[in-house]
Amino acid sequence: MSSGRSAVGRAPAKAIVVGEHFVVYGCPAVAVPIPDLVLQATLSRRDPGPPHAGHVGACLAVLHERFGGLPPESLDVSVKSDIPWGSGLGSSAALSVALARAYLRLCGRKPFADDVREASLACERIAHGRPSGIDTEVALTGMALRFERGKPPVPVPINGRIGLIVADTGVASPTSEMVAAVAARREADRAEFDRLLQAAAQKADEAENALALGDTDSLGSVLIAGQALLDEIGVVTEEVRRVVAAAREAGALGAKVTGAGGGGAVLAVHQVGSIPGVAARMRSDNVRVISAGPLGEFEPEGEP
Ligand code: PMV
Repeated sequence: MSSGRSAVGRAPAKAIVVGEHFVVYGCPAVAVPIPDLVLQATLSRRDPGPPHAGHVGACLAVLHERFGGLPPESLDVSVKSDIPWGSGLGSSAALSVALARAYLRLCGRKPFADDVREASLACERIAHGRPSGIDTEVALTGMALRFERGKPPVPVPINGRIGLIVADTGVASPTSEMVAAVAARREADRAEFDRLLQAAAQKADEAENALALGDTDSLGSVLIAGQALLDEIGVVTEEVRRVVAAAREAGALGAKVTGAGGGGAVLAVHQVGSIPGVAARMRSDNVRVISAGPLGEFEPEGEP
């Protein structure tokens, strides 16, 4: 994927099925890739020019510092993405993974998973302060995972009978602010937060089983419970409630906000065969459906 003067890196969106926010405090979480929402970064050599701004600039600085080679000001960056920014779908992790892959390739190196992971996590620390690492891991592996801080992620087999709809509320919210708001809530009542965390951990076990068995009813129940837990920690907005209600009215077996919340994306599940009908009814209720299809893996780009 490197032609000498330019190189490409790709990574998929991720959706947390259950356990977001609680995962920051050691709870297991389960996340799946969304293979049809992909970010592609292309890096090209150029004559030294103006510095890059924002997260792209921060990532390039990290990559240069870690791997040496091409200074950021001598790179052109072009990013094409299906992943809405700040919507809980792991856009910043997909960006840092894709940039790291492209950067290493342009430097004539293979983008080995360990190098890409470490670089992406360093970029995520700049964007989020204290990332759990779940976003990076799914963007990197393209697989459904059970993720627990400090433990190796466990791949979860995906049973193709399950269909997933992703809808975007169109309201973006910075992950770092949402994580800080949840931290304040936890400080205010530790015992209550721990009770919710225990409940989330049990739902992560149930999600893992449901995904492996293709048990859409149980997965729907997990989503309903996950939504209630996120509501209790204050990350569910009125717009999210509207989209979740629209999904349920359209026949979804369960629906919830995913990722940091405060707006963002909503997930809904059903058997694969019912997905087109549910998605059509949601669209006719003015919901912006951005992905609808079977759960599946994102084919990684060949590097170990
Ligand atoms: O909204 P996103 O895609 O940045 O997901 C963040 C997930 C959190 O659990 C809220 C934070 C984390 O680092 O795990």
